Amino acid sequence: MLETTYNENIKVFLSEKYFIKNNLDRYLEYYKKHKKLTPTKVVALINTNRDNPFYENTRPTDMSKNELILVNKYNYLAEDYVPENLVKISSSYAYANNNIKEEVLEAFIEMASASKEEDIVLIINSSYRSFKDQDTIWKTRKASSGTEKADQYAARAGFSEHQSGLSIDIAQFNSSEEDFENTPAFSWLQNNAHKYGFILRFKKDAEDITGYSYESWHYRYVGKEVAEKVFNEDITYDEYYAYYIENK
Ligand code: DAL
Ligand code: ZN
Repeated sequence: MLETTYNENIKVFLSEKYFIKNNLDRYLEYYKKHKKLTPTKVVALINTNRDNPFYENTRPTDMSKNELILVNKYNYLAEDYVPENLVKISSSYAYANNNIKEEVLEAFIEMASASKEEDIVLIINSSYRSFKDQDTIWKTRKASSGTEKADQYAARAGFSEHQSGLSIDIAQFNSSEEDFENTPAFSWLQNNAHKYGFILRFKKDAEDITGYSYESWHYRYVGKEVAEKVFNEDITYDEYYAYYIENK
C-alpha cells in the first residue's frame, strides 16, 4: 500500500512543469510531511531550497552568471563585493546619492523615457547599497522591530540584491513611497517593466518563497529576454533560477 502511494506520488511530480529530477526524493519527503500542499507548491518550495530554514545552508552565489546571479536568503555576495561599472545616477532619474551598474541605468532611462510619454515620472529611491549600508539598514530595523520583522523587510548584509547593483527601488516622482502600489507608476510598471529587462522581485503572496513581504517598488534587472519569460510564466526569480539556470 505504502509502495503504491509512493509510486503514485512519483507520477504526480513527474508531470509538474518545473520538475527537477535531482529533487525528486526531497519532493516526496516534503509532500509526506505537508500533505495539505499541492504538488505544484511542493516543487516550487523544494526547488528554491525551502526545506531548509532561511539563512541556513547558505552558499556564495555563482558569480559566473553575471546579471543573472541569484541573491536571496541562501545565496550571498562576498563582504568586499562591489559591482563593476557603477555609475552615479543623475538627479533627473534618482534622489540624491544613488549609484547603479551602467547597463541597469541605461535600461532604466529607456523605461523612464517610455513612461514619461504617458506622463508618468519614475524616480529611483534606492539602488546600489554596500555590504556596510545594508548591515546598518538591517540592524536599525532589528533594533526598532526585532529580528523577525527586520527579516521580513530587509536583507541581512551580503544577502541583499541591492549590493549586486542590479536592483532598484522605484517611486513615482513626488508621491510617497509607501503608497506606491496605488500609483499610476506602479500600474504602468506592472504592464511594461519586463519590456525593459526588469522584474518585480518580491511578488505578492510569494513570501514563503522569497522570504520577504510584498514590495511593489523593488525591481531587479535581468535583461529583456529573461524578464519576458519570468513575466509570462508569473514565477519568482528564485524559481526561475532554480529551473532554467541552475538545472541546465
Ligand atoms: N528590501 C530588500 C529585501 C533588501 O533589503 O534587499
Ligand atoms: Zn529594494
